[in-house]
Amino acid sequence: MNDMKRFIVLPDLHGECADQEAVRVALDFIADFEPHERVIGGDLFDFAPFRKGADESEKRASIAADLEAGLDLLRRFQATQWTFGNHDIRPWRMRDESSGAMRDYADIVCKQIEDATRRAGCKTYGYRIDQRCQLGPGLSVIHGFAHGMYTARATADAYPGGTIAGHVHSIQYHRAASFDIRECWLIGCMRHPFAPFNQTRLATFRHSIGFAYGWYSETSPNYTVHQAQRMANGAWILNGKEYR
Ligand SMILES: [Fe+2]
Repeated sequence: MNDMKRFIVLPDLHGECADQEAVRVALDFIADFEPHERVIGGDLFDFAPFRKGADESEKRASIAADLEAGLDLLRRFQATQWTFGNHDIRPWRMRDESSGAMRDYADIVCKQIEDATRRAGCKTYGYRIDQRCQLGPGLSVIHGFAHGMYTARATADAYPGGTIAGHVHSIQYHRAASFDIRECWLIGCMRHPFAPFNQTRLATFRHSIGFAYGWYSETSPNYTVHQAQRMANGAWILNGKEYR
């Protein structure tokens, strides 16, 4: 147990859309649990207006408010690692694929994020299948690259060891029938679940507010992952203690 380090993974906060009660519970838990690694599991920001093909209502959202909310969460969680999600990379994509004022504004947003992560000493990973945030040799964190009811299975098949992912906002687990350990936890989200773009998708019923915490070894492939999930009455049981 001596070489085991504590971690927390906070998935899919989506900036201004973050579930504030879940954020408060996670911060209270962090104060008690004192994780060595505090990982943002991607989609720290929402950046709806930067979405390619954004509709009129998405374009009306404030990027400044979303940026401020996400950077505030980065500071409050004192994140040590952040694996980018598909929403987080939107300003870079917008900067590279647009022109004029939009290109200039996207560039300002990119630089603000790069400055903030540098100041926070937070290590970042790109949204690419070959980049993983590592918690010792056995466990890693990605944002997620698959969708649907077999997401945990597709992810477990793709990566060796234990993989923690978000992206689909739901909770799933799968262990592959393989000689080496391949298992995946999809750990829910910390975003308010009923977003406008979710109102016509049945998969939204599967969304859960949650995050992961646990222990990992820096020197061996040992780890244990615990799913934190808000109960129907709004309370959470985390490491044997009730939070609300
Ligand atoms: Fe995502």
